[in-house]
Amino acid sequence: MKLLVTGGAGYIGSVVSRLLLDAGHEVTVLDSLITGHAESVAPDATFVQADIKDAATVLTPGAGFDGVLHFAGLIAAGESMVKPELYWQHNVVGSLALLDAVRAAGVPRFVFSSTAACYGNPAEIPITEAAETKPTSTYGATKLAFDMALTSEAFAHQLGVTSLRYFNVAGAYIRDDRAIGERHDPETHLIPIALEVAAGKREKLTLFGDDYPTPDGTCVRDYIHVEDLARAHLLALETSKPGEHRFYNLGNGQGFSNREVAETVREVTGHELPVEVAPRRDGDPAILVASSGRARAELGWVPAKPTLQAMIGDAWTFYREHVAA
Ligand SMILES: NC(=O)c1ccc[n+]([C@@H]2O[C@H](COP(=O)([O-])OP(=O)(O)OC[C@H]3O[C@@H](n4cnc5c(N)ncnc54)[C@H](O)[C@@H]3O)[C@@H](O)[C@H]2O)c1
Repeated sequence: MKLLVTGGAGYIGSVVSRLLLDAGHEVTVLDSLITGHAESVAPDATFVQADIKDAATVLTPGAGFDGVLHFAGLIAAGESMVKPELYWQHNVVGSLALLDAVRAAGVPRFVFSSTAACYGNPAEIPITEAAETKPTSTYGATKLAFDMALTSEAFAHQLGVTSLRYFNVAGAYIRDDRAIGERHDPETHLIPIALEVAAGKREKLTLFGDDYPTPDGTCVRDYIHVEDLARAHLLALETSKPGEHRFYNLGNGQGFSNREVAETVREVTGHELPVEVAPRRDGDPAILVASSGRARAELGWVPAKPTLQAMIGDAWTFYREHVAA
Protein backbone atom coordinates (compact mmCIF):
# COMPACT_ATOMS: atom_id res chain seq x y z
CA MET A 1 0.00 0.00 0.00
CA LYS A 2 1.02 3.60 -0.52
CA LEU A 3 0.68 5.23 2.91
CA LEU A 4 0.92 8.69 4.43
CA VAL A 5 2.22 8.77 8.02
CA THR A 6 1.62 12.08 9.79
CA GLY A 7 3.89 12.63 12.80
CA GLY A 8 6.43 10.14 11.44
CA ALA A 9 9.31 12.11 12.99
CA GLY A 10 7.88 11.46 16.47
CA TYR A 11 8.31 8.50 18.79
CA ILE A 12 5.49 6.18 17.73
CA GLY A 13 5.10 7.32 14.10
CA SER A 14 8.78 6.70 13.38
CA VAL A 15 8.59 3.13 14.74
CA VAL A 16 5.38 2.36 12.82
CA SER A 17 6.95 3.76 9.61
CA ARG A 18 9.78 1.25 9.95
CA LEU A 19 7.43 -1.68 10.42
CA LEU A 20 5.36 -0.56 7.41
CA LEU A 21 8.48 -0.31 5.24
CA ASP A 22 9.70 -3.71 6.46
CA ALA A 23 6.32 -5.16 5.46
CA GLY A 24 6.81 -3.84 1.90
CA HIS A 25 4.62 -0.73 2.00
CA GLU A 26 5.58 2.63 0.50
CA VAL A 27 5.70 5.38 3.13
CA THR A 28 5.56 9.18 2.94
CA VAL A 29 6.08 10.96 6.25
CA LEU A 30 4.47 14.35 6.80
CA ASP A 31 5.69 16.14 9.94
CA SER A 32 6.18 19.80 10.83
CA LEU A 33 8.96 18.89 13.32
CA ILE A 34 7.23 21.01 15.95
CA THR A 35 8.16 18.35 18.52
CA GLY A 36 9.67 15.62 16.30
CA HIS A 37 13.22 14.96 15.08
CA ALA A 38 14.22 14.80 11.39
CA GLU A 39 16.76 12.06 12.16
CA SER A 40 13.97 9.82 13.52
CA VAL A 41 12.24 9.64 10.11
CA ALA A 42 12.72 6.17 8.61
CA PRO A 43 15.53 6.45 6.01
CA ASP A 44 13.53 4.66 3.30
CA ALA A 45 10.49 6.94 3.69
CA THR A 46 9.86 10.06 1.61
CA PHE A 47 9.90 13.01 4.03
CA VAL A 48 7.78 16.14 3.62
CA GLN A 49 8.22 18.82 6.27
CA ALA A 50 4.78 20.40 6.53
CA ASP A 51 1.93 21.03 8.93
CA ILE A 52 -1.09 18.71 8.73
CA LYS A 53 -3.26 21.71 7.88
CA ASP A 54 -1.41 21.71 4.52
CA ALA A 55 -1.78 17.97 3.94
CA ALA A 56 -3.69 18.56 0.69
CA THR A 57 -0.41 19.55 -0.98
CA VAL A 58 0.77 15.93 -0.59
CA LEU A 59 -2.53 14.09 -0.48
CA THR A 60 -3.63 15.09 -3.95
CA PRO A 61 -6.37 13.18 -5.80
CA GLY A 62 -3.82 11.86 -8.30
CA ALA A 63 -1.25 10.70 -5.73
CA GLY A 64 -2.92 7.33 -5.19
CA PHE A 65 -2.61 6.96 -1.42
CA ASP A 66 -4.24 3.79 -0.01
CA GLY A 67 -4.25 4.95 3.59
CA VAL A 68 -3.32 7.56 6.18
CA LEU A 69 -1.93 6.82 9.64
CA HIS A 70 -2.41 9.92 11.77
CA PHE A 71 0.05 10.31 14.67
CA ALA A 72 0.75 14.06 14.41
CA GLY A 73 -0.46 16.03 17.38
CA LEU A 74 0.45 17.64 20.68
CA ILE A 75 0.48 15.15 23.53
CA ALA A 76 1.14 16.76 26.92
CA ALA A 77 -2.00 16.68 29.07
CA GLY A 78 -0.56 19.18 31.59
CA GLU A 79 0.39 21.70 28.90
CA SER A 80 -3.06 21.33 27.32
CA MET A 81 -4.62 22.77 30.50
CA VAL A 82 -2.60 26.00 30.27
CA LYS A 83 -2.48 26.36 26.46
CA PRO A 84 -5.78 24.78 25.38
CA GLU A 85 -5.97 26.89 22.20
CA LEU A 86 -2.79 25.24 20.91
CA TYR A 87 -4.29 21.77 21.41
CA TRP A 88 -7.61 22.59 19.70
CA GLN A 89 -5.67 24.12 16.81
CA HIS A 90 -3.25 21.22 16.22
CA ASN A 91 -5.33 18.24 17.29
CA VAL A 92 -8.73 19.29 15.96
CA VAL A 93 -8.47 22.14 13.41
CA GLY A 94 -5.34 20.62 11.82
CA SER A 95 -6.82 17.11 11.87
CA LEU A 96 -10.04 18.32 10.22
CA ALA A 97 -7.98 19.87 7.39
CA LEU A 98 -6.23 16.52 7.00
CA LEU A 99 -9.62 14.80 6.83
CA ASP A 100 -10.77 17.24 4.12
CA ALA A 101 -7.70 16.27 2.10
CA VAL A 102 -8.36 12.55 2.69
CA ARG A 103 -11.93 12.98 1.38
CA ALA A 104 -10.89 15.05 -1.63
CA ALA A 105 -8.21 12.52 -2.56
CA GLY A 106 -10.54 9.53 -2.09
CA VAL A 107 -8.21 7.76 0.39
CA PRO A 108 -10.05 4.64 1.66
CA ARG A 109 -8.34 3.87 5.02
CA PHE A 110 -7.52 5.94 8.10
CA VAL A 111 -5.84 4.85 11.34
CA PHE A 112 -5.89 7.35 14.21
CA SER A 113 -3.74 7.53 17.35
CA SER A 114 -6.44 7.98 19.94
CA THR A 115 -5.78 7.71 23.65
CA ALA A 116 -6.82 6.27 27.01
CA ALA A 117 -7.20 9.94 28.05
CA CYS A 118 -10.59 9.88 26.25
CA TYR A 119 -11.96 7.81 29.17
CA GLY A 120 -10.87 10.18 31.96
CA ASN A 121 -11.53 8.66 35.36
CA PRO A 122 -13.33 5.41 34.52
CA ALA A 123 -15.93 3.76 36.74
CA GLU A 124 -14.69 0.23 36.04
CA ILE A 125 -11.32 -1.46 35.60
CA PRO A 126 -10.24 -2.92 33.21
CA ILE A 127 -11.38 -0.25 30.76
CA THR A 128 -13.25 -1.59 27.74
CA GLU A 129 -14.18 0.29 24.57
CA ALA A 130 -17.74 0.50 25.94
CA ALA A 131 -16.62 2.68 28.89
CA GLU A 132 -18.00 6.19 29.06
CA THR A 133 -15.76 8.82 27.44
CA LYS A 134 -15.30 11.70 29.88
CA PRO A 135 -11.83 13.20 29.38
CA THR A 136 -10.37 15.16 32.30
CA SER A 137 -7.83 17.12 30.20
CA THR A 138 -8.08 19.36 27.15
CA TYR A 139 -5.68 16.95 25.46
CA GLY A 140 -8.14 14.07 25.96
CA ALA A 141 -11.05 16.25 24.86
CA THR A 142 -9.31 17.20 21.59
CA LYS A 143 -8.56 13.56 20.78
CA LEU A 144 -12.15 12.55 21.55
CA ALA A 145 -13.50 15.42 19.43
CA PHE A 146 -11.56 14.18 16.42
CA ASP A 147 -12.66 10.60 17.10
CA MET A 148 -16.25 11.87 16.83
CA ALA A 149 -15.49 13.64 13.55
CA LEU A 150 -14.12 10.34 12.25
CA THR A 151 -17.31 8.50 13.19
CA SER A 152 -19.36 10.94 11.07
CA GLU A 153 -16.85 10.70 8.23
CA ALA A 154 -17.04 6.90 8.14
CA PHE A 155 -20.84 7.02 8.20
CA ALA A 156 -21.33 9.77 5.60
CA HIS A 157 -18.39 9.18 3.26
CA GLN A 158 -17.59 5.47 3.67
CA LEU A 159 -14.08 6.02 5.06
CA GLY A 160 -12.69 2.88 6.77
CA VAL A 161 -11.48 4.16 10.18
CA THR A 162 -9.69 2.54 13.09
CA SER A 163 -9.07 4.49 16.30
CA LEU A 164 -6.43 2.86 18.44
CA ARG A 165 -6.67 4.02 22.05
CA TYR A 166 -3.17 3.68 23.43
CA PHE A 167 -2.42 3.40 27.12
CA ASN A 168 1.16 4.28 28.25
CA VAL A 169 3.54 3.56 25.40
CA ALA A 170 7.07 2.57 26.44
CA GLY A 171 10.26 0.90 25.23
CA ALA A 172 12.21 1.35 22.03
CA TYR A 173 12.45 -0.34 18.66
CA ILE A 174 15.89 -1.91 18.39
CA ARG A 175 17.03 -3.15 15.02
CA ASP A 176 20.57 -3.89 13.84
CA ASP A 177 22.70 -1.04 15.09
CA ARG A 178 19.87 1.43 15.41
CA ALA A 179 17.31 2.15 18.10
CA ILE A 180 14.27 4.39 17.92
CA GLY A 181 12.86 5.54 21.22
CA GLU A 182 11.14 8.23 23.17
CA ARG A 183 12.49 11.80 23.10
CA HIS A 184 9.92 14.32 24.24
CA ASP A 185 10.97 17.80 25.36
CA PRO A 186 9.97 18.43 28.06
CA GLU A 187 9.63 14.77 28.98
CA THR A 188 6.47 14.03 30.95
CA HIS A 189 6.45 10.22 30.83
CA LEU A 190 7.51 8.22 33.89
CA ILE A 191 9.93 5.69 32.35
CA PRO A 192 12.15 8.13 30.38
CA ILE A 193 12.19 10.48 33.39
CA ALA A 194 13.26 7.61 35.66
CA LEU A 195 16.02 6.70 33.17
CA GLU A 196 17.28 10.31 33.25
CA VAL A 197 17.52 10.01 37.05
CA ALA A 198 19.33 6.65 36.77
CA ALA A 199 21.77 8.25 34.32
CA GLY A 200 22.44 11.12 36.75
CA LYS A 201 20.83 13.77 34.52
CA ARG A 202 18.08 14.51 37.06
CA GLU A 203 18.39 14.57 40.80
CA LYS A 204 15.41 12.43 41.77
CA LEU A 205 12.21 10.79 40.64
CA THR A 206 9.06 12.36 42.07
CA LEU A 207 6.11 10.05 42.67
CA PHE A 208 2.85 11.90 43.18
CA GLY A 209 0.99 10.27 46.07
CA ASP A 210 1.62 7.02 47.94
CA ASP A 211 -1.75 6.77 49.69
CA TYR A 212 -3.87 5.50 46.79
CA PRO A 213 -5.98 2.33 47.28
CA THR A 214 -3.43 0.20 45.41
CA PRO A 215 -1.13 -2.58 46.72
CA ASP A 216 1.82 -0.22 47.39
CA GLY A 217 -0.09 3.07 47.55
CA THR A 218 1.25 4.48 44.26
CA CYS A 219 -0.76 4.85 41.04
CA VAL A 220 -1.07 1.84 38.74
CA ARG A 221 -0.85 2.27 34.97
CA ASP A 222 -0.91 -0.01 31.94
CA TYR A 223 2.22 0.01 29.77
CA ILE A 224 2.53 -1.23 26.21
CA HIS A 225 5.76 -1.84 24.29
CA VAL A 226 6.02 0.48 21.28
CA GLU A 227 6.81 -2.46 18.99
CA ASP A 228 3.65 -4.32 20.07
CA LEU A 229 1.67 -1.13 19.59
CA ALA A 230 3.17 -0.62 16.14
CA ARG A 231 2.12 -4.10 14.99
CA ALA A 232 -1.50 -3.31 15.83
CA HIS A 233 -1.41 -0.54 13.20
CA LEU A 234 -0.54 -2.99 10.44
CA LEU A 235 -3.37 -5.29 11.55
CA ALA A 236 -5.78 -2.33 11.60
CA LEU A 237 -4.84 -1.39 8.03
CA GLU A 238 -5.23 -4.94 6.75
CA THR A 239 -8.69 -5.38 8.27
CA SER A 240 -10.13 -1.92 7.54
CA LYS A 241 -13.63 -1.88 5.98
CA PRO A 242 -15.28 1.06 4.16
CA GLY A 243 -17.86 2.87 6.29
CA GLU A 244 -16.78 1.24 9.57
CA HIS A 245 -15.26 3.12 12.53
CA ARG A 246 -13.68 0.60 14.88
CA PHE A 247 -12.18 1.36 18.31
CA TYR A 248 -9.53 -0.74 20.04
CA ASN A 249 -7.91 -0.21 23.43
CA LEU A 250 -4.24 -1.11 23.39
CA GLY A 251 -2.52 -1.92 26.65
CA ASN A 252 -1.16 -5.19 27.92
CA GLY A 253 -4.02 -5.64 30.38
CA GLN A 254 -1.68 -5.66 33.32
CA GLY A 255 -1.02 -2.73 35.56
CA PHE A 256 2.32 -1.74 37.05
CA SER A 257 2.59 0.65 39.99
CA ASN A 258 4.88 3.67 39.95
CA ARG A 259 7.03 2.00 42.61
CA GLU A 260 7.29 -1.16 40.48
CA VAL A 261 8.51 1.00 37.59
CA ALA A 262 11.12 2.63 39.86
CA GLU A 263 12.26 -0.77 41.17
CA THR A 264 12.57 -2.21 37.65
CA VAL A 265 14.58 0.83 36.50
CA ARG A 266 17.01 0.17 39.40
CA GLU A 267 17.20 -3.52 38.48
CA VAL A 268 17.70 -2.98 34.71
CA THR A 269 20.16 -0.08 34.90
CA GLY A 270 22.05 -1.16 38.02
CA HIS A 271 22.02 2.48 39.15
CA GLU A 272 20.73 4.27 42.21
CA LEU A 273 17.31 5.84 41.79
CA PRO A 274 16.51 8.44 44.46
CA VAL A 275 12.73 8.73 44.83
CA GLU A 276 10.72 11.43 46.62
CA VAL A 277 7.01 11.22 47.33
CA ALA A 278 5.02 14.41 46.69
CA PRO A 279 1.30 15.06 47.31
CA ARG A 280 -1.23 13.60 44.84
CA ARG A 281 -1.81 15.57 41.63
CA ASP A 282 -5.35 16.70 40.86
CA GLY A 283 -7.20 14.38 38.53
CA ASP A 284 -4.81 11.37 38.69
CA PRO A 285 -6.97 8.21 38.94
CA ALA A 286 -5.60 5.43 41.19
CA ILE A 287 -5.66 2.70 38.54
CA LEU A 288 -5.86 2.81 34.72
CA VAL A 289 -5.68 -0.61 33.12
CA ALA A 290 -6.97 -1.50 29.66
CA SER A 291 -8.95 -4.43 28.46
CA SER A 292 -7.45 -5.25 25.07
CA GLY A 293 -9.77 -8.22 24.62
CA ARG A 294 -11.38 -6.73 21.52
CA ALA A 295 -8.04 -6.12 19.75
CA ARG A 296 -6.97 -9.66 20.57
CA ALA A 297 -10.24 -11.20 19.36
CA GLU A 298 -10.87 -9.10 16.24
CA LEU A 299 -7.36 -8.14 15.08
CA GLY A 300 -5.57 -11.26 16.34
CA TRP A 301 -3.20 -8.92 18.21
CA VAL A 302 -0.99 -10.44 20.91
CA PRO A 303 1.67 -8.41 22.73
CA ALA A 304 5.08 -10.08 22.41
CA LYS A 305 6.91 -7.91 24.97
CA PRO A 306 4.49 -7.44 27.87
CA THR A 307 7.00 -7.24 30.73
CA LEU A 308 8.27 -4.08 32.35
CA GLN A 309 11.79 -5.53 32.13
CA ALA A 310 11.55 -5.75 28.31
CA MET A 311 10.14 -2.23 27.95
CA ILE A 312 12.60 -0.60 30.34
CA GLY A 313 15.50 -2.68 28.98
CA ASP A 314 14.90 -1.46 25.41
CA ALA A 315 14.26 2.12 26.56
CA TRP A 316 17.58 2.05 28.48
CA THR A 317 19.48 0.77 25.42
CA PHE A 318 18.03 3.65 23.41
CA TYR A 319 18.73 6.18 26.15
CA ARG A 320 22.39 5.18 26.57
CA GLU A 321 23.16 4.95 22.85
CA HIS A 322 21.18 7.87 21.45
CA VAL A 323 20.14 10.35 24.14
CA ALA A 324 22.99 10.35 26.67
CA ALA A 325 25.68 9.72 24.03
N1 LIG B 1 3.25 8.43 23.79
C1 LIG B 1 2.18 7.90 24.36
O1 LIG B 1 2.28 7.24 25.42
C2 LIG B 1 0.80 8.09 23.74
C3 LIG B 1 -0.32 7.58 24.42
C4 LIG B 1 -1.59 7.74 23.85
C5 LIG B 1 -1.73 8.34 22.61
N2 LIG B 1 -0.63 8.86 21.98
C6 LIG B 1 -0.83 9.52 20.67
O2 LIG B 1 0.11 9.00 19.75
C7 LIG B 1 0.52 10.01 18.82
C8 LIG B 1 2.04 10.03 18.74
O3 LIG B 1 2.59 10.25 20.03
P1 LIG B 1 4.17 10.34 20.25
O4 LIG B 1 4.46 9.91 21.65
O5 LIG B 1 4.87 9.66 19.12
O6 LIG B 1 4.39 11.92 20.16
P2 LIG B 1 5.61 12.75 19.53
O7 LIG B 1 5.50 14.12 20.12
O8 LIG B 1 6.88 12.01 19.69
O9 LIG B 1 5.24 12.79 17.97
C9 LIG B 1 4.25 13.64 17.45
C10 LIG B 1 4.76 14.12 16.10
O10 LIG B 1 3.74 14.94 15.49
C11 LIG B 1 4.34 16.08 14.89
N3 LIG B 1 3.31 17.14 14.85
C12 LIG B 1 2.63 17.68 15.88
N4 LIG B 1 1.74 18.58 15.43
C13 LIG B 1 1.86 18.59 14.07
C14 LIG B 1 1.20 19.28 13.03
N5 LIG B 1 0.22 20.17 13.31
N6 LIG B 1 1.55 19.03 11.74
C15 LIG B 1 2.53 18.14 11.44
N7 LIG B 1 3.20 17.47 12.39
C16 LIG B 1 2.87 17.68 13.69
C17 LIG B 1 5.53 16.40 15.81
O11 LIG B 1 6.53 17.16 15.16
C18 LIG B 1 6.01 15.00 16.20
O12 LIG B 1 7.00 14.52 15.31
C19 LIG B 1 -0.10 11.32 19.30
O13 LIG B 1 -1.21 11.63 18.50
C20 LIG B 1 -0.55 11.01 20.73
O14 LIG B 1 -1.72 11.74 21.07
C21 LIG B 1 0.63 8.74 22.51
